[in-house]
Amino acid sequence: MTLGRMSTPRQILVTTALPYANGPLHLGHMFEGLYADFWVRFQKMRGHQVLFICADDTHGTPIMVEARKRQITPEQLIDEAWKDHVKDFKAFSIEHSHYSSTNSPANKELCEHFFAKMKEKGSLGAKTIQQLYCEHDKMFLPDRFVKGTCPKCGALDQYGDSCDVCGATYGPSDLKDSYCAVCGNPPVKKPSEQILFKLNDYREYLQGWLPKHTAKETANKMLEWFGEELREWDISRNAPYFGFQIPGHPDKYFYVWVDAPMGYVSSTKEYCEKNKLSFDDYWKSDAKTEVYHLIGKDIVYFHTLFWPALLKAADFRSPSAVWVHGHVMVNGEKMSKSKGTFLSAKVYTDHLDPMYLRYYFASKFSSGVDDVDFNLEDFAQRTNSDLIGKITNLASRGATMLGAKLDGVMSEPDAEGTELLKRAVAKSEEIARHFEEREFVKAINEIRALADEANRYFDEKAPWKTVESDPKGTKQVLTTTLNLFRKLAIFLKPVLPEYTAKVEKMFGEAPYTWASSEQTLTGKAVGKYEHLATRIDPAKIKSMMDANKQELAERAERDKKSGFATKAKTGAPVSTTTDAKPAAAPAGRDGGLAPEIEIDSFSKVDLRVAQIVDAEEIKEADKLLRLKVSLGPLGERQIIAGIKSAYSAEQLKGRLVVIVANLKPRKMKFGMSEGMALAAGQGGSDLFLLSPDSGAKPGDPVK
Ligand code: 2FM
Ligand code: ZN
Repeated sequence: MTLGRMSTPRQILVTTALPYANGPLHLGHMFEGLYADFWVRFQKMRGHQVLFICADDTHGTPIMVEARKRQITPEQLIDEAWKDHVKDFKAFSIEHSHYSSTNSPANKELCEHFFAKMKEKGSLGAKTIQQLYCEHDKMFLPDRFVKGTCPKCGALDQYGDSCDVCGATYGPSDLKDSYCAVCGNPPVKKPSEQILFKLNDYREYLQGWLPKHTAKETANKMLEWFGEELREWDISRNAPYFGFQIPGHPDKYFYVWVDAPMGYVSSTKEYCEKNKLSFDDYWKSDAKTEVYHLIGKDIVYFHTLFWPALLKAADFRSPSAVWVHGHVMVNGEKMSKSKGTFLSAKVYTDHLDPMYLRYYFASKFSSGVDDVDFNLEDFAQRTNSDLIGKITNLASRGATMLGAKLDGVMSEPDAEGTELLKRAVAKSEEIARHFEEREFVKAINEIRALADEANRYFDEKAPWKTVESDPKGTKQVLTTTLNLFRKLAIFLKPVLPEYTAKVEKMFGEAPYTWASSEQTLTGKAVGKYEHLATRIDPAKIKSMMDANKQELAERAERDKKSGFATKAKTGAPVSTTTDAKPAAAPAGRDGGLAPEIEIDSFSKVDLRVAQIVDAEEIKEADKLLRLKVSLGPLGERQIIAGIKSAYSAEQLKGRLVVIVANLKPRKMKFGMSEGMALAAGQGGSDLFLLSPDSGAKPGDPVK
């Protein structure tokens, strides 16, 4: 892949994960959309032909349940979501070539085609399994729609796939006292025949494919699954289900994760048909087009095992690469509904200009899978000092002085200015390489360094002092400054397209390409300086976060009234698709209380005050922190606690908590857990550790 100006333009297709249609877009969606948008816009500036394709992911139990809850049809629900999503993306200037829906005729046809091919290849099997069914809601319950008591540690109200408290994984039938997460009634077991995709048939293919199409760390992680046979994948779901019916199986539907990635292909197809492009060049052969999927680290399995196998089965090409990014954090913690940091795209745009977020995210994005922190203070500080203080001020000071004190026409740069401009041009390919390699942070660092040089030059020359005595020399300084600014605006165009459009207008030029940065403007009249950007007022950030908190609380209240309590799975960068993560959980089960016990059952529990002396994150586990707690005279011990979604290790050090001190030590995957810290809440991010009032000492009994 060359980076310079191409003789032959590249043909590229970029996709982002399809947002799930059961709710509004949030910061995580914007993160991914912006990342792709920067890259796409950069490639277009380089003269390449790029399609940026996306769609809403519209099927599955959560959509069906959400629609029932709101007493509308699933079609109405996804229609509303589609309109809102399109509006939000547009507000952030995330410019898709085409934004479709997986509930489209094109996608249905494609799904059926893939199914026929899987059959033809002998890749399908069948198996009868016992599944949990809710007689009240008349539906089979996916794992995350069953809750109950953890079979390992006895924690109440755990999901059907894993325990938030002890980290154990299991199946929904293993839960004790299980109940339907929608209505609270106990489910029954029913046999049902499922259609399976024989993933293991593609074992060798995938083993070869992974290292060539994913980053090393992703490939290595996925290859760990190859120690044993790849399990068959259940691609069917029982009626009632909102999705596409499986041909020849009237009561079966394609599992949402089957037709979701097909949305990448069917959306491309719709675009190609409308624009008379060859669809085959995009998805049948890999000779002409580079195809990139950008996704969050939580959905790698689907995109790097199932999806390439399905494409192979259907004789379609596979993506050139799957790019995996980390999650977005807010102030160093996972986004949390209960803490009000699950920031919606709409609330953001109601309060702040998306340009700020575009700049801030660009200054942090890289090609790695590290999480990216949206730190509110740093956001205001960095944007104000860089974008306004260092960059925009060059234009406002330079152009205003040229227009107001001189005749508004540039001359030519002075000798020092000529050198500076040459240096900026010399950086152009390096900055381009950073964009190409998705090292946006490095590109922004280079741009900022050039801005620093321009400011140093401007301040040293102090044109405001010389404008009366030496108008000719002053003009040269302003000409240099404005040319430097112009180059910065060109380099920033993938990130700040509207900002740069104003700069194009100011200099009376056609839309910039990357090569426009090589040019230096001389003897040119500069238009009136039009306002480009203002500083972020930190008060606005505060009112945004307050409004968001309020909106989340209202939403939770609405959900409660309609008989559901939403339970946020925290930290996911994009919304929740699939059975694996439901939108709804019950407010409580039949009054929410466990059966009565005698006082002596309670007195068997030895509750003690403990002080957390050390806390560390268990990197390999999503939910667990390792705590070292002191019971004062009773010594120290280790507790492995499932509270990572609600607390960072740093926050906990020194804190007093209440623990069950006589719980039999349990050997867990990450070491012994010798007790349990008590917390209130639903689990996930909605967890609040219990602490005694001040005065209590480590080791004190709790009665
Ligand atoms: O995780 C999610 O939010 C899914 N809706 C992503 C689907 S990506 C693709 F496969 F469609
Ligand atoms: Zn039910």
